[in-house]
Amino acid sequence: KIENNLRPQLLDDYIGQAKAKEMLNVYIRAARERGDALDHVLFYGPPGLGKTTLAGIIANEMGVNIKITSGPAIEKPGEMAAILNNLQEKDVLFVDEIHRLNRQVEEVLYPAMEDYAIDIMIGKGATARSIRLDLPKFTLVGATTRAGMLTAPLRDRFGVVHRMEYYTTEELVTIIKRSARVLEVGIDEAGALALARRSRGTPRLANRLLKRVRDFAQVKYDGDITKEVADYALDLLDVDKEGLDQTDRELLLTIVNKFAGGPVGLDTLAASVGEDAGTIEDVYEPYLLKNGFIQRTPKGRIVTEKAYIHLGIEMNMEV
Ligand code: ADE
Repeated sequence: KIENNLRPQLLDDYIGQAKAKEMLNVYIRAARERGDALDHVLFYGPPGLGKTTLAGIIANEMGVNIKITSGPAIEKPGEMAAILNNLQEKDVLFVDEIHRLNRQVEEVLYPAMEDYAIDIMIGKGATARSIRLDLPKFTLVGATTRAGMLTAPLRDRFGVVHRMEYYTTEELVTIIKRSARVLEVGIDEAGALALARRSRGTPRLANRLLKRVRDFAQVKYDGDITKEVADYALDLLDVDKEGLDQTDRELLLTIVNKFAGGPVGLDTLAASVGEDAGTIEDVYEPYLLKNGFIQRTPKGRIVTEKAYIHLGIEMNMEV
């Protein structure tokens, strides 16, 4: 069980990702009716959009245990074999950052996912042989920020593959109000809306900002969250009206100031701002792209007119 009461436990209480909800509802009911394990599920997309939460809901709705681990945490094939062997029938194994599993560990998963078995090598050299060990039927739920980084054999073994979407402002308002109820803090409509607009389409960020704004409401105001408190706190936290944080703005400003608005390649940009290229690509860029602050061209990233206006910078037109 995942211990965090801001996370819903039931599919019905999960807000947003309508497509995923609809599909999972069918698959879970069908598997339950057959008394079967759910097929393996892969979630991909930017961080903070509810992949772990959905994995927890799947386990809860299936009435089974969930074991949570991550790609970088499993270093040896034997560790993966031990985890799989310790599962109970129909259990969920959640592997976060599954694209970071090393090759040998990943190869343990192939027969495990396909045949619910692992092959163990005994002995060395000429006398080496492998024996097959049966596993309980289980559900692998994988999460990754980059589906493109999964090997084809691994990706192909997931029966369900789903891309997570950014949340609408309305969805975030609903999540924020629910979280405020759980945290027992008052919030009015305008306060929830101000928070939602500045949460980057991301529930994890909305919940984090809600907690920070609650602190300001408690200490500087009368305890309830209004638009005034939210705006005051979020300005201090350097989250702007479009939900962009310091790194987002630094990325845009770097393209504008050092690369004349672009185009600039990802690696050049990464080196220039001192961020990891993968992090820019998985975490920052998707939101900036979706909201039209940057565009990708064959020659690299360019900053849009919308970004110039947002940053309050004159666009330098070539005449
Ligand atoms: N808390 C975090 N993510 C949520 C979601 N998608 N729905 C409801 N509550 C949430």
